Amino acid sequence: MVRAAIQLCVMQALLAEELEALRKRALDRHLREISSAQGPEVVIAGRRFINFSSNDYLGLANEPRLREAAASAIDEFGVGAGASRLISGTQSPHLRLERALAKWKGSEAALCFSSGYATALGTIPALVGKDDVILLDKLCHASLIDGAKLSGAVLRVFPHNHVGKLESHLEWANREHPGRRVLIITESVFSMDGDRAPLRKLVELKKRFGVLLMLDEAHAVGVIGPNGRGLAAAENVSEEVDIQMGTLSKALGASGGYICGSHTLIEWLINRARSFIYSTAPPPAIAAASLAAVDFLASPEGEKRRLLLWERIRLMQQLLPRAGLKGENVNARSAIFPLIVGDEKAALDLAATLHSKGFLVPAIRYPTVAKGTARLRITVTAAHEVAQIEAFCAAIKRRR
Ligand SMILES: Cc1ncc(COP(=O)(O)O)c(C=O)c1O
Repeated sequence: MVRAAIQLCVMQALLAEELEALRKRALDRHLREISSAQGPEVVIAGRRFINFSSNDYLGLANEPRLREAAASAIDEFGVGAGASRLISGTQSPHLRLERALAKWKGSEAALCFSSGYATALGTIPALVGKDDVILLDKLCHASLIDGAKLSGAVLRVFPHNHVGKLESHLEWANREHPGRRVLIITESVFSMDGDRAPLRKLVELKKRFGVLLMLDEAHAVGVIGPNGRGLAAAENVSEEVDIQMGTLSKALGASGGYICGSHTLIEWLINRARSFIYSTAPPPAIAAASLAAVDFLASPEGEKRRLLLWERIRLMQQLLPRAGLKGENVNARSAIFPLIVGDEKAALDLAATLHSKGFLVPAIRYPTVAKGTARLRITVTAAHEVAQIEAFCAAIKRRR
């Protein structure tokens, strides 16, 4: 009893010390309470802020058609799913959503998870293990990194979007790990940089070396490609991407993650993906809202909303001061604009100044991005009005 109390005391003292060290390096993090629905404007402590921080790219998170779908699913199916999908948690909305996802993405089948993070964490270790090889882009999201580490496979990271280095890693894998499974993992739009993977070149390499390709389309679905089907569809290489991952929580405005692929792949994941098997099924209302989002995206009205998003992206690119903007001379490739500040404290100060003027934009710091590359991650949505974007860019100009 006494020993446990001492251990707790010592641990708390150490944690307090570590937290103080984080504060000194401007790397501490805090929650902020939003007392409204998501949208281009949110309320914090009774004050309205124009929100340039969300991934709700199409403004669907509070869209009536998604709210109605969720509400009527609650009427019919209640709130909780009650058990994991393999026990008794698979309700009609889950299966309807998976059928719609497969149809929309043009794949044989689909499987949904409770989050994008859980999707990566369950899928990667189900596909590769010890002695297999994963080749991962340096800027891949934490969920992909964690899934790769959890798999126990030999992990090699290639410099961001560096096709030449990837090729030499593939030659190395052929030489050192002959006959083993090799999986290339990358994102179509990189979450903190907003740039795109050179997908056609990656597909060419994966075909030449006879290896597998997993593509996380988290920030591309709803934004890129016909009816928002993502970068693989835009580049007409969907069939070459063996494992198509995405989330329902960004442009689709709901929550959850998915894998699209062959019937065999999906059946394997149902049997082997631990984050799918050992977790309660997502609430049926969330599946119903996600289905409403997929139906919307596949409709002409959804395509119109996506094109409106691209009008807003172009306006942001035109008005945002160029200095510090990553890839400042190229056309915007997504709805994400990283304004590189460098120093962590300076990024926090810039975010605080904008906050005082009524704008919500997060300062992204280590370990989410490399040390010394702190930035404002500005995201634009189809729901922003022109005047909101103009006011925000004017505020940044005055500050810089
Ligand atoms: C590229 C990428 N993949 C996966 C995820 C995880 O998705 P979710 O938020 O649905 O867990 C994120 C979330 O930020 C992401 O940016």
